Amino acid sequence: MRLLVVSNRLPVTITEREGQIKFQKSAGGLVSGLSVYLDSLKSSSIIEKKYLWIGWPGLPVAENRKKEVKEKLLSEVGSFPVFISEKAMDNFYHGFCNKTIWPLFHYFPSYTVFDEEYWETYIKMNQNFRDAVLEVVKPGDIIWIHDYHLMLLPRMLREKLKNPIGFFLHIPFPSFEMFRLLPAKWRTQILEGLLGAHLIGFHTHDYTQYFLRCVHRILGHEHNMGKIIVGDHIVKAEAFPMGIDYKKYHEAVSTKEVQRHKKELEKSLSGYKVILSIDRLDYTKGILNRLQAYEQFLERNGQWHGKVVMAMIVVPSRIGVEHYQDMKKQIDALAGNINGKFGTLSWAPILYQYKSLPFNPLVALYSVSDVALITPLRDGMNLVAKEYVAAQEEKKGVLILSEMTGASHEMAEAVIINPNNIEEIVEALETAMEMSSEERVKRNLLLQKRLQYYDVSKWAESFIHELNDLREEQKKFHKKILGPVQRKQLLQDYKKATRRLVFLDYDGTLIPFSENPQEARPGKSLLRMLDNLAADKKTQIVLTSGRDKETLEEWFGSLDIGLIAEHGIWFKEKNKDWRIIKPLSSEWKEQILPVLETYADRLPGSFVEEKEYSVVWHYRRADAVMGSIIAKELVDYLVDFTANIDIQVMQGHKIIEVTDVDVNKSSAGMHWLDVYNSDFILAIGDDWTDEYLFKILPEWAYSIRVGITQSHARFNLRDSGEVLNLIRRLIRAYEARN
Ligand code: UDP
Ligand code: G6P
Repeated sequence: MRLLVVSNRLPVTITEREGQIKFQKSAGGLVSGLSVYLDSLKSSSIIEKKYLWIGWPGLPVAENRKKEVKEKLLSEVGSFPVFISEKAMDNFYHGFCNKTIWPLFHYFPSYTVFDEEYWETYIKMNQNFRDAVLEVVKPGDIIWIHDYHLMLLPRMLREKLKNPIGFFLHIPFPSFEMFRLLPAKWRTQILEGLLGAHLIGFHTHDYTQYFLRCVHRILGHEHNMGKIIVGDHIVKAEAFPMGIDYKKYHEAVSTKEVQRHKKELEKSLSGYKVILSIDRLDYTKGILNRLQAYEQFLERNGQWHGKVVMAMIVVPSRIGVEHYQDMKKQIDALAGNINGKFGTLSWAPILYQYKSLPFNPLVALYSVSDVALITPLRDGMNLVAKEYVAAQEEKKGVLILSEMTGASHEMAEAVIINPNNIEEIVEALETAMEMSSEERVKRNLLLQKRLQYYDVSKWAESFIHELNDLREEQKKFHKKILGPVQRKQLLQDYKKATRRLVFLDYDGTLIPFSENPQEARPGKSLLRMLDNLAADKKTQIVLTSGRDKETLEEWFGSLDIGLIAEHGIWFKEKNKDWRIIKPLSSEWKEQILPVLETYADRLPGSFVEEKEYSVVWHYRRADAVMGSIIAKELVDYLVDFTANIDIQVMQGHKIIEVTDVDVNKSSAGMHWLDVYNSDFILAIGDDWTDEYLFKILPEWAYSIRVGITQSHARFNLRDSGEVLNLIRRLIRAYEARN
């Protein structure tokens, strides 16, 4: 099986020197994390070391050099380039990605730019990536899309391909209040785009929950244990905290190359405690807060003057975006101030470098640093924190970590700080500088054990395993869909039969749901269709509904069909009167109605329906999230409240119904099954109240659940449109013979 990794940035960025195309490693956690995983694929069970990385090579490439760049990337780094012009790069990469999504998803709404041209280019660039994938994809390839640049791509690809599609977001997914700041069209399309994947991964459980909540509030899809069913597609959202190649960082410390760098550092830093500060230049990383805290630390702790240095590595990033340029100026100024204020001719409190370190010097620096001060205001994960701990061969370094990073969820043994509280960072520095050796070892031991266990390979393999499992589940679901073969068999059996029994649910089965139940009155064409179906005297139709008998009588009384009302309390055979299934009492309604009415008052848009022997609280028109929360509360309350009364509380499609304890559609259905000895049975329904009927039907009966969901029914149809098509074909089968 081949893995196609798709991300905006390729693992290498091209540079041109004296007319020669060269590659240099790209910056950032996505590339460094994924690269080590792909390098280690030899040992993977699923992927068999075959992969192709599709992405942008980091610079615009002249038309006449594209071929050369493409060949060089393919042969030297196993990558397939997506070329982006300078203009598109401005609107897409600098624009929508880094001036809209990046600040908004990191809770910097005031930095967020809302520009229609950026959005249009974002769509176009996602289409470009789609076309690149379509150019190279083969059947069976697993497609794994990464990060916020490509959130529309999962759907674009699923419309064209049958391959498994995974998506992983490397940055935080924000809360609904933040996400809703995007214009309605954008936020809807972004969520729909993501839902095109089979599996969507996030670094933390919180991000996953925020995403699911946005899907619920904006698109109205509920989830069940992270799974959402959209049409006939199952998609799951789950947390997969990204790990690092622990072994690589841990073992590198004792290699010759790292030892050489380490000795040099030890020589130049001898006599100083080293505080490490290392990030891409980004306003989300909290570099200014860190410097302010260091300044206060020096102010308060004269005893450390001349004995401590901050090794500050700032990796250039996104220099085309103004906020990054501003941040650079502010960092330069503050670092300069601190050095000017506290430094002497023989001591500079900050050693500042504005460039990226390659692997060996980086590990050497991790290893000689006594403290790592990591203070992002927001960070999806933060791999530097994990790498620093892995490189503590002697388990002596202290990690100070912001609680706003994804990594802090797995690293409770670090000194955890809130980066907005400078005083807290100062205290953490004081704690770290004074921490006993035993305490440091104890903390590192626990941290290292966890990092070693859930490393980057586990992260990637568990994601891909889950993606595969979901595909299998999806296939099983699809097998249950009433396809052309089963439909043909059904029609043949229908034609052959001489005593047919057809149970049809109404709402959600013969017509789609309506916000107002009274508006769901059957149209002329539906009535004509039922009439035509009933015209065949060998067919007995029974309409099975939760509605009251008066409504059913008014709507369907003129048809030659049987009726079941109030989920089975009342039934009526053709040309006969309504009968109750058993003697029932409705005295309990007096106690329940006021409860439901209180809830209807509490939740705008919800209302109460009273039937003869049951009462219903409807919340379809209410706010989706509030509706679910209050519905859960009401069910809890009612179950408690009715413990000593012989009634049941049922939860259906955006309704809660209270009714007699052992009356359901199966009791009334049984009546027809008993009196009407049939050789063909068809039952179609869309919700769990129909499940009672499905359960009691003989194995050979055709039971069909509308909607892709788990069911006792033998088959599924996607929606009421498909049900009507099937009925039309049954009618044609009859008409063809007459
Ligand atoms: N990194 C590097 N050289 C440096 C600084 C950082 O190679 O001089 C790497 C570091 O090893 C880590 C990545 O850059 O793997 C940064 O990832 P992180 O998740 O911490 O932050 P991001 O840049 O993705 O926001
Ligand atoms: C973060 C993002 C990555 C991105 C990296 C570097 O880690 O999650 O998607 O590649 O920063 O940023 P850049 O803009 O240089 O690709």
